[in-house]
Amino acid sequence: MAITPRTSTTLTQFLIEQRRRFPDASGNFNALMLDVALACKAIAKSVAYGALADLLGHHPEDGGSCVNVQGETQQKLDVLSNELFIRMTECGGNLSGMASEEMETPYPIPTHLHRGKYLLVFDPLDGSSNIDVNVSVGSIFSILRAPRHVQDGADLTEADFLQPGCEQVAAGYALYGPTTMLVLSVGSGVNGFTLDPVMGEFMLTHPDLRVPEDTQEFAINASNARFWELPVKRYVDECLAGRTGPRGKDFNMRWIASMVAEAHRILMRGGVFLYPRDTKDPDKASRLRLLYEANPVGFIMEQAGGRASTGRKPMLQVQPGQLHQRIGLVFGSRNEVERIERYHSEPVALKDENPLFAERSLFRD
Ligand code: AHG
Ligand code: MN
Ligand code: MN
Repeated sequence: MAITPRTSTTLTQFLIEQRRRFPDASGNFNALMLDVALACKAIAKSVAYGALADLLGHHPEDGGSCVNVQGETQQKLDVLSNELFIRMTECGGNLSGMASEEMETPYPIPTHLHRGKYLLVFDPLDGSSNIDVNVSVGSIFSILRAPRHVQDGADLTEADFLQPGCEQVAAGYALYGPTTMLVLSVGSGVNGFTLDPVMGEFMLTHPDLRVPEDTQEFAINASNARFWELPVKRYVDECLAGRTGPRGKDFNMRWIASMVAEAHRILMRGGVFLYPRDTKDPDKASRLRLLYEANPVGFIMEQAGGRASTGRKPMLQVQPGQLHQRIGLVFGSRNEVERIERYHSEPVALKDENPLFAERSLFRD
């Protein structure tokens, strides 16, 4: 069957068009974005080869396995994807440094290379527990401005990256699913591109994406229910109660365990995702990380008319305290996220009246 392209706008053409809005722009940002897109294409290729290229399984070291700064076992593709991001973006002259889930400390652009205006923060492979079972994974990235002193050659430190999400110049993700897609916001809406695997080009296929304001679909890892705070328990309980409960409608539930894939589903058809603050580990606020998971996805959601929150405040207003800081994250359809925020601000006296947590409850503590 002949495949007739439905679109002829490439990512490059799209970026050039966007740049017309900023007559003084140098083109550095566009060059950086194309380098990031190249890294994503290289990762897509590695993910697609999988076992054929011996790329599944744990990253070996002396026959054992490596653990990253998160305390998580690294997969081969976590490490390779991290290397591809560095290799494809460090020589362009547009970055002063990078930070990633897989690197304990920031990576400064080596002194023999030119330093540029931007910082790149990324999760090279999100959902990497899904690699070995051939379920969608992705890459998440955030672009920040580099402080002047760093561009001028001063040492790069963790503090240079501790900028609230509202300061992001751009953010996006690549999704390595049945097709490879790049979803991007440069601060004026959200656009989606599909990789034409023969031409090697990202083509604009999903212009001006918008998250529906309402939904009947939620995503949460219910195995953590006993660690949730009461406002989250209340929200989920009301969803589960369905048509005869306080919401007066039935809800559906999904959990892919690749946040990037959940974000994409929500961008396509609405929904709400929660990895809320919980009490599972007293040393960690939650599972997901602020700078390279919550902030870029939050930026995309807000730019598409959705909402992203800690439950207590807008995600993009959080002042980061640490490079690998974890945070409770709620995002998706605006009305649903606002409802969850409202539950967090209301006093709760639920435990006794809530059937879900009663003696014979499914989710009893
Ligand atoms: P990563 O693979 O980058 O460490 O991130 C995985 C994250 C996220 O993608 C997903 O939503 C979550 O971990 C899944 O957590 P559970 O294992 O608790 O379901
Ligand atoms: Mn991740
Ligand atoms: Mn990851």
